[in-house]
Amino acid sequence: MELDVRELRNALGRFATGVCLITAVTEEGEALALTANSFSSVSLDPPLVLWNLQNNSEVFGAYSGARNYAINVLAGNQQELSSRYARKGDHLLDPEHFTPGENGGAPIIHDALVSFECSLDATHPGGDHLIIVGRVDAMHVRPEGEPLVFFSGAYRALA
Ligand SMILES: Cc1cc2nc3c(=O)[nH]c(=O)nc-3n(C[C@H](O)[C@H](O)[C@H](O)COP(=O)(O)O)c2cc1C
Repeated sequence: MELDVRELRNALGRFATGVCLITAVTEEGEALALTANSFSSVSLDPPLVLWNLQNNSEVFGAYSGARNYAINVLAGNQQELSSRYARKGDHLLDPEHFTPGENGGAPIIHDALVSFECSLDATHPGGDHLIIVGRVDAMHVRPEGEPLVFFSGAYRALA
């Protein structure tokens, strides 16, 4: 059966997710952020998480080569940040949106629900995406706050 790509995208969108900003620092020292909802936990021991990066992203080289990065889970009132860092070719982080992390310096987004500081564990080819597996080195948890939810192509809040 030949699958229609748009129908597949719509079907996959029926799976509700949170929204993250993946942050890293380039070799030139520029802080980057990219909006992603492909984050998933993999393993508790060792502590591994993953996300998927589009092969045709303009920042593919920077993210696929980053030894350290952070996964920042956005709160319900951070939709503007999600839209801002999903703009094509526009991933330079505004200094007022973050502080450098302690493990490897990946940017920690202010007021995220949780930020995971990761070091690269492995990458795996995944069709038109690259699967990036990271080891969690440190966590910054904000115990309060509601998540930003993405469902059927739109932002939602928990009812
Ligand atoms: C809710 C949402 C989730 C996204 N999830 C991912 C993702 O998991 N992986 C990814 O590479 N891009 C994802 N994107 C797309 C990127 O945020 C961004 O739009 C894209 O990388 C822009 O192209 P560029 O990388 O060439 O600048 C997502 C966008 C939105 C709005």
